[in-house]
Amino acid sequence: MELVILKDSEQVAAAGAEHLQDLLLNKPNAVLGLATGRTPKSMYRQLANLCKESSLSFRDVTTFNLDEYLGVQPNDAQSYRSTMRRELFDDIDIDPANTYLPECAADQNPLDVGPDYEAAILEKGGIDCQVLGIGQNGHIGFNEPSSSLNSRTRIKTLTRETIENNRQYFEDAESQPQLAITMGIATIMDARQILLLATGAAKAEAVRQSIEGAVSASCPASILQMHERVVVLLDEPAASKLARLDYYLWVQNQKRRLLAKIASD
Ligand code: GLP
Repeated sequence: MELVILKDSEQVAAAGAEHLQDLLLNKPNAVLGLATGRTPKSMYRQLANLCKESSLSFRDVTTFNLDEYLGVQPNDAQSYRSTMRRELFDDIDIDPANTYLPECAADQNPLDVGPDYEAAILEKGGIDCQVLGIGQNGHIGFNEPSSSLNSRTRIKTLTRETIENNRQYFEDAESQPQLAITMGIATIMDARQILLLATGAAKAEAVRQSIEGAVSASCPASILQMHERVVVLLDEPAASKLARLDYYLWVQNQKRRLLAKIASD
């Protein structure tokens, strides 16, 4: 796990955008796993700006989002499809046909969505880089605590805490869905690399448990300790509860020095 601790959320967004830009320059037809939520918003803005300046193209990119509410139709303003369009898709040169979310059409059996989504990911060759945020309870996607660490894309019931945290996006409590379809934890772990972003003090405890706690279904993000290639971008408030913070900062400095030396040799 590579931990990068940065001053604030804007630096996290810039580092995330740079990471994805490097990936797309090396592999213009990459398959990206994307997340919604407040955390990646500013990174998406920066990616859209890079695309506008022609420093980056999504022409051959395919995306798979982590999750979607069940019972919300793609055109509804609160759907994650609409959110992704507002925050990224409408401002980049991606082919909308290459943007996937685990959506359930009105006439579709919701139980079919998960297996179909897994098959679509496989058909595109798997996810090169999965972007993740983290819930205050340690969830990734909508894999709430107690989700099987071996789970696949399926329907999940949201916790009261998650419903509460996402209430602001809905006009009234009644219209807020309590079910979602989410990539499973094993689906996420299949990605060739993972880019986790966490910002703000409200995430500090979940970050500490994920990075320094035991691997446990009680904190779904802790499974990332078992992944070979994870980059975690944190701002200082999100990193504030890490017991080994000094060590992580020292490692980060050593890496910076080494890369500067290689560049000057
Ligand atoms: C949401 C989403 C997750 C997201 C997380 C954190 O409910 N399902 O994919 O990463 O919770 O959200 P935020 O970035 O708004 O804090």
